[in-house]
Amino acid sequence: MGIRSTLPLCAVVAGTAALQIPLLSPHQQAPLEAADKTKPLINSSALQDLISGDRLFTRAKKLFDIAKLGEDEYNHPTRVIGSAGHEGTLAYIYESILQLGDYYKLDNQSFPAVSGNVFESRLVIGNSVSKSAAPMGLTPPTQNKQPVHGDLVLVENEGCQIGDFPDSVSGNIAFIKRGTCPFGTKSEHAGQKGATAAIVYNYEKDAVQGTLGTPSPNHVATFGLSGKEAGPVLEKLEKKDKVDAIAYIDADVKQIITRNIIAQTSEGDPNNCVMLGAHSDSVAEGPGINDDGSGSISLLEVATQLTKFNVSNCVRFAWWAGEEEGLLGSDYYVATLPEEENIKIRLFMDYDMMASPNFAYQIYNATNAVNPNGSEELRDLYIDWYKDQGLNYTFIPFDGRSDYDGFIRGGIPGGGIATGAEGIKTKEEEKQFGGKAGEWYDHCYHQLCDDLSNVNMTAWIVNTKLIAHSVGTYARSFKGFPKRTSSVASSAYESEAKYHGSMLYI
Ligand SMILES: *[C@@H]1O[C@H](CO)[C@@H](O)[C@H](O)[C@H]1NC(C)=O
Ligand SMILES: *[C@@H]1O[C@H](CO)[C@@H](O)[C@H](O)[C@H]1NC(C)=O
Ligand SMILES: *[C@@H]1O[C@H](CO)[C@@H](O)[C@H](O)[C@H]1NC(C)=O
Ligand SMILES: *[C@@H]1O[C@H](CO)[C@@H](O)[C@H](O)[C@H]1NC(C)=O
Ligand SMILES: *[C@@H]1O[C@H](CO)[C@@H](O)[C@H](O)[C@H]1NC(C)=O
Ligand SMILES: *[C@@H]1O[C@H](CO)[C@@H](O)[C@H](O)[C@H]1NC(C)=O
Ligand SMILES: *[C@@H]1O[C@H](CO)[C@@H](O)[C@H](O)[C@H]1NC(C)=O
Ligand SMILES: [Zn+2]
Repeated sequence: MGIRSTLPLCAVVAGTAALQIPLLSPHQQAPLEAADKTKPLINSSALQDLISGDRLFTRAKKLFDIAKLGEDEYNHPTRVIGSAGHEGTLAYIYESILQLGDYYKLDNQSFPAVSGNVFESRLVIGNSVSKSAAPMGLTPPTQNKQPVHGDLVLVENEGCQIGDFPDSVSGNIAFIKRGTCPFGTKSEHAGQKGATAAIVYNYEKDAVQGTLGTPSPNHVATFGLSGKEAGPVLEKLEKKDKVDAIAYIDADVKQIITRNIIAQTSEGDPNNCVMLGAHSDSVAEGPGINDDGSGSISLLEVATQLTKFNVSNCVRFAWWAGEEEGLLGSDYYVATLPEEENIKIRLFMDYDMMASPNFAYQIYNATNAVNPNGSEELRDLYIDWYKDQGLNYTFIPFDGRSDYDGFIRGGIPGGGIATGAEGIKTKEEEKQFGGKAGEWYDHCYHQLCDDLSNVNMTAWIVNTKLIAHSVGTYARSFKGFPKRTSSVASSAYESEAKYHGSMLYI
């Protein structure tokens, strides 16, 4: 999941009975049998009963070991696309499904992606090392991956026109205000005018953590800077005082091929599919055990236990790649789906971050007023389940921050659940879910410490059971669920979705 805060729009309180997590009984984990005799028709509660915390955590340990494959290149565990850790993740998912025999048809879907990696960076303004400076995603390195020294040159307006850049920027460092046009455009203009680096400073006091987006040969090494740090610098520059700086970024931007993994049941009506997804990749900064190792593993476990049943409707699992680079895999999947295939997908369910350590049970507020018909029925399935368990839940905006986005734009009903990223838990939520008010839901969000200690098992088991329930319900029947009519996005969603994946780009 991406960078914006996900403060709940409102909170809903259900009953107060505590959830009982059934103990694992040994016979439930018997080896999978070949489909040579008739299996019982899928039953949601029977599938939920097969979800075990031990099995989820065993897989998490495996995934963390896989993330360590990224250490050679990145000096720490990671499963970012293009890394050995991500390749290992794909192999693990693929092998796990392959072991289930002919219950699933497996597919790799390859697509091109740009992968950026910042190894080291530093910005010194005057005599002090900047605290807020953050290299932009997909930034090129400074020349020869060496520090560059120059004067800061104030750019007029917001640097959206090449004419905003004075000639004196050549050989120096452009100092540009955030706003109006994408960061990538500003960096490109700076490069065209011969700047050796660029700094985009915020109009708000916060830091700027953004991305340059699609690489351009004219991009120069670019930092974001907080408005707070920029203030005194601006004062000097406006008085025509000289401010010098040293910028240094060691980074790589490369074009790679990565892939989505899709597994579809061999049985079940292929014209009426329930589809669900999680993302297989992490950010470069860490191993991504909660984001989204948790969702990826939940899907693997549900897919494994589902093989003990027969299904009426087809079930299609997806592990997306490149989510962290801007929903690349899921976008590619929907964009390349022929119309006749699009309408076979009755709904898409997104499972990104199931086990945040300071969790809330969050449901995407996907309504039929704004989203394809059926999105609200899915939302209500989640509500009813939490209520039945006596658990509280909150609504969060359904605004384009994860892999459901392409589906909604493609007219496919969607929704999902999450447990929170960098948003701050409220006092009310502390009462509803436990944990700590005033802190992030996931204090290791997009960081190195998103490791084995960064999952709350209670939340993870609860949500994996809910995933099992969603699969069990729709694999059995779509009774009462709206039929597909169109493969076009509603304009209402277009105007409400202000994000496309994780990073700010403007
Ligand atoms: C959910 O979204 C709808 C718009 O589709 C809005 O009217 C409603 O207030 C939202 N509910 C919550 C709890 O945020
Ligand atoms: C699964 O169910 C379908 C119809 O619902 C039936 O034709 C098929 O034989 C069943 N398969 C198994 C393995 O039970
Ligand atoms: C589903 O399984 C549960 C046991 O897990 C059982 O009590 C229930 O009767 C089953 N429902 C159906 C419709 O078969
Ligand atoms: C699909 O990808 C997996 C994981 O990388 C790989 O092991 C497998 O050989 C690939 N299968 C095909 C048919 O390309
Ligand atoms: C639900 O939230 C209320 C406070 O709004 C709290 O008293 C109750 O204990 C919570 N229920 C559970 C199961 O945590
Ligand atoms: C998980 O969350 C529950 C409920 O807030 C809490 O009781 C439990 O201690 C947490 N577990 C861990 C390992 O933090
Ligand atoms: C949505 O689906 C329901 C149930 O199938 C149907 O009654 C309703 O007319 C549909 N609404 C729209 C706008 O298509
Ligand atoms: Zn995520």
